Amino acid sequence: MSTPRRLKIALIGLGRLGAIRASILAFQQPRIELVAACYTKPGSDEWAAANLPPSVKYYADPEDCMKNSGAEAVLISTVTATHAPLICMGLDLGLHVMCEKPISVDLITTAEVLAKARSNPHLKFLVPFCRRYDDSYRAAKEMVENRSLGEIHAVQTTCIDQQDPTGFFISFSAQSGGIFVDMGVHDIDIGRYYLDVTSGLANPKKQVNRVVAMGQQAVYGELAKYGDCDNGWGMVEFANGKVLTSHLGRTLTNGFESCTRVCGTKAHSVINGNSTINRVESFLNDLAEFSASVLDDKPLTCTPDDAYEAAKIATALQYSFRNGVPVYFDDEGLPILETSKANVV
Ligand SMILES: NC(=O)c1ccc[n+]([C@@H]2O[C@H](COP(=O)([O-])OP(=O)(O)OC[C@H]3O[C@@H](n4cnc5c(N)ncnc54)[C@H](O)[C@@H]3O)[C@@H](O)[C@H]2O)c1
Repeated sequence: MSTPRRLKIALIGLGRLGAIRASILAFQQPRIELVAACYTKPGSDEWAAANLPPSVKYYADPEDCMKNSGAEAVLISTVTATHAPLICMGLDLGLHVMCEKPISVDLITTAEVLAKARSNPHLKFLVPFCRRYDDSYRAAKEMVENRSLGEIHAVQTTCIDQQDPTGFFISFSAQSGGIFVDMGVHDIDIGRYYLDVTSGLANPKKQVNRVVAMGQQAVYGELAKYGDCDNGWGMVEFANGKVLTSHLGRTLTNGFESCTRVCGTKAHSVINGNSTINRVESFLNDLAEFSASVLDDKPLTCTPDDAYEAAKIATALQYSFRNGVPVYFDDEGLPILETSKANVV
């Protein structure tokens, strides 16, 4: 009996998430073979030697890795600022690409990357929003689809990280794009996932009417200099009349909270009410979908357009917070940002 074909993947980046991804790729994906890893972080080589199979080849340069490792696909798990150039490099080299969110912290770059992905329709491109790949979020989606919650009219999310005494995210804020772009993009995506935002539209290009955001530097005053906050509240009114509200925070001292309430006319569903349970299943499920999509030529459930629409809303919320104004969307579906601050990070 012949061995089933496995997708040869190279992993770029062995940081906090990259190390988790590496172990999953090497040991928990029956349809994937981790052929190579590329890292720039000192100490990653010792970790890799101790934790990954001896067959994995190592590279210091991403281009060398993508060209010469024999990989058919690449998983990019590097710092956000490198995502766009590395995605383009992978696609130009004829590789299928999966990349951690976000594509970029500015919309113009995001749109350019998506145009390149669209011009290579034979290559799969996935930016996985992890909640879509979590079993409890999927169970709620089933309830939404079989209408047991009635008509879904709103989604409410809370995502509050445990307070990090090192204040790492203060310097991170300089390049992260801010709390709405970096953290909120997951909440925005999950809101879009449940609120059926592409149906009932008078103008199919325009999915959002307006957003408004507020924020505080409740603990970390220094964030003000980056136009960022440690607690942020965002409201999104979609063009189909549905509403998303989110509280994002980085200052919880007694735990971690990531909870979503799906509000239907017959019932509400609360997902992840107990956030102390540590789940990594989404990092297995998204890779399983990506490999099946390439090997069996199946469509992906989370599309590049989802990443773009979420990025537009995240940018609008960040702008709204920074400038103290609501942001409306135009008939092309773009946020109306009065000044160039939108792309300033
Ligand atoms: N749930 C999620 O979807 C989720 C969760 C965590 C992180 N992320 C995203 O994953 C990415 C990585 O996050 P992290 O916490 O692991 O960051 P990290 O800072 O711990 O690691 C980043 C890694 O990128 C490497 N790197 C930087 N430039 C490189 C280059 N040019 N070539 C090769 N490697 C390079 C660094 O050496 C480091 O190992 C971020 O974009 C983050 O937004 C997504």
